[in-house]
Amino acid sequence: MTQASAVHTRCPAGLLAAIRTATARRADWAQTAALVAAQLRLHLPGPDILTAGEREGSPEGYVCHTLHTEPDGSFSVCALVWQPGQRTPVHDHVTWCVVGVLQGAEDEQLLALRDGGTALEEVGRNVNLPGDVAGFAPPGDIHRVTNQGDDVAISVHVYGADIGRLGSSVRRTYDLPVVARAR
Ligand SMILES: [Fe+2]
Repeated sequence: MTQASAVHTRCPAGLLAAIRTATARRADWAQTAALVAAQLRLHLPGPDILTAGEREGSPEGYVCHTLHTEPDGSFSVCALVWQPGQRTPVHDHVTWCVVGVLQGAEDEQLLALRDGGTALEEVGRNVNLPGDVAGFAPPGDIHRVTNQGDDVAISVHVYGADIGRLGSSVRRTYDLPVVARAR
């Protein structure tokens, strides 16, 4: 008996094949994130990868829809939906991650630990718009995503892990003060 044929996927076949080609290179995390980002740029789906109901999001908080988990656990594909004003906690990841925005605007704040790990400092900020794709890999991937726009924001995330098994790609969250950048 094989489980593979029973794996549920809502990911377009072209995107899946492209991600497999990139991960099959067995490069390190940073290189894999760059390779997968290049493929996601070429194969970025539209927001209609989700149903109309899913695209509305939830007033309870941002929602993650798992679109695919690779049978060998090498990657997962999710779609995240943020209503205006919703945000993630400050967090980092257990593995590489690639994000492509499908709708709306996602404000990404990049942070780094300071003062012996007792504080955070903002080290970068990007407003990602539809079509923008970015890849990153630990360590040094502490960030927070906020929908500061007026529309629902939707993005596709590819993580180098089996999200179904782990439950999440988040390594930890950080509840620390953010100190001003030293000039
Ligand atoms: Fe993240």
